[in-house]
Amino acid sequence: MIKTRFLSGKDNNEIAEAAQILARGGLCAIPTETVYGLAADAYNGKAVAKIFEAKGRPQDNPLIVHIEKLDRLYDLWEEVPERALKLAEAFWPGPLTMVMTKTDKVPREVSCGLDTVGVRFPEHPIARKVIQLADTPLAAPSANLSGKPSPTTFAHVKEDMDGRIDAILEGGDCFVGVESTVVDITGDVARILRPGAITEEMIADVLGNAFTDSAVEEGLKEGEKPRSPGMKYRHYAPASPVKLFCGAPDDTAKKVMDAPAGAAVICFNEYAYGYEYASRLSAVSKVSPLGNSWDHAMHARRIFDALRSCDGATAIYVQCPRRMGAGAGSVNRLMRAAGFNFEKCTQYPVIGVTGRSGSGKSYIAKLLSEELGYPVFDADAEYKKMLESGGEMTRKILQAFPSVNDKGKVDRRALAKIVFEDKAAKELLESITHPCVAEKASEFIKNSKGCILDVPLLHESGIGRLCTAVLGVIADEDVKLQRIMIRDGIDVTMAKARLAAQSDDKFYYDSCDITVRNNGEGSKNLSKLAQKLIKL
Ligand code: TXA
Ligand code: MG
Repeated sequence: MIKTRFLSGKDNNEIAEAAQILARGGLCAIPTETVYGLAADAYNGKAVAKIFEAKGRPQDNPLIVHIEKLDRLYDLWEEVPERALKLAEAFWPGPLTMVMTKTDKVPREVSCGLDTVGVRFPEHPIARKVIQLADTPLAAPSANLSGKPSPTTFAHVKEDMDGRIDAILEGGDCFVGVESTVVDITGDVARILRPGAITEEMIADVLGNAFTDSAVEEGLKEGEKPRSPGMKYRHYAPASPVKLFCGAPDDTAKKVMDAPAGAAVICFNEYAYGYEYASRLSAVSKVSPLGNSWDHAMHARRIFDALRSCDGATAIYVQCPRRMGAGAGSVNRLMRAAGFNFEKCTQYPVIGVTGRSGSGKSYIAKLLSEELGYPVFDADAEYKKMLESGGEMTRKILQAFPSVNDKGKVDRRALAKIVFEDKAAKELLESITHPCVAEKASEFIKNSKGCILDVPLLHESGIGRLCTAVLGVIADEDVKLQRIMIRDGIDVTMAKARLAAQSDDKFYYDSCDITVRNNGEGSKNLSKLAQKLIKL
């Protein structure tokens, strides 16, 4: 038993003390943006060997080396290829680890007999400061006991490592929350060995192409040799058995409701209230919300804490995030925690396509439809149809906005003017229209075997919760303006005003599984994309 020092990352002297411990061959847990790392001087084989002991880590699972200046690559790798520099330029400092052929300077304790080494340049200011002051690259796996969920808070690290290492440097909660994306760049095409916040699509954008190793999504096949040793161990796992429910959030929510007595539930925020107040509250031992169903960044931040906090329950039932693009990292960790024990709750793909006016989302929806043979639900057209048919929705609108009543019909111009100028009025209108359009979408899904939903306000309307995949379409500002002006016959001032009233690109990056830029070359790589989007 070692007396573990607790150091504060808010105090420069204590950061310096952590660096000294490391430079002298000690072990210190440090915060990074992904998860806390258990660090040692990467050039000191003896120090690195102690990491394996403290974690109970299998001897054949290599460590990632952390640097804070690019020059270090030339000491660690035999060759620094152009593609590495491109990725570094795009994503470093940040949650990306690149695997390349190592030099003799890297001790075997780090690489565990492989001829490669993974290197990462973290973004977290405290991590960078420690590496800089220690004046050496740091080997650091996640600072958990081997097999347990990775630590994303100081409390997690303390729980696993107190008494086993020299010090823990406190740096608050990790803001990414799942470990870095690991990409093998020894070959011509980048191969993703572990998904994370830097997605396959983002890497492909920089290099032209990239793919994800099959073992990531399906697990290793009988007798298959892993590309990354970490793939073969049960991982990220609490002691309780974990079961995942995959598919559209509204469908998985229903299944998770059947959790047995004593089970814990990890679910999206939209459903947490329902579980907590359901009559079965007494049966479910804990409800741990993971964030809104579309919020991949929040899922990543919450995932390990949720798994840890539910430990001890008879079972953990999890509403699984969507698995492609930005969701791939969290889903990979959950699949491993569950030992690939999952159930599909939605039968056919439901692909939501969304974007701002002029992004060309309807065009992309049409191309996807041709590629996959699925019908398209056009939310704008449905809305107009409902307005003209004078049914239930019209009645409710006229009741809420009597001044737009034009002989029993809605004067659309008058209505548009009211809601454009008054936020509360807009919300009132949407509280009427969204459920009506969502109901139509539900019917459409039921009547088709796989479909595409073309919806401008996909998440806001709740229709996103019916989807198994969500594609965001973005386009450059001037392209969008041109398209709106031509399509709607309006001038540039009006087109600008219309765009200004809508969410910015960041919203689509944050809330969609995958985003594509459509500046006119829309069909590029579309069949590959379509195949990703139909995976259930
Ligand atoms: O975000 C992160 O990467 C965190 C923080 C602390 O930086 N570190 C981390 O390390 O997650 P660790 O050891 O828990 O996971 C490293 C993963 C393992 O699955 C390992 O098998 C794989 O990366 N790996 C390391 N070196 C490799 C190599 N040379 N070739 C293939 N896979 C490698
Ligand atoms: Mg780990």
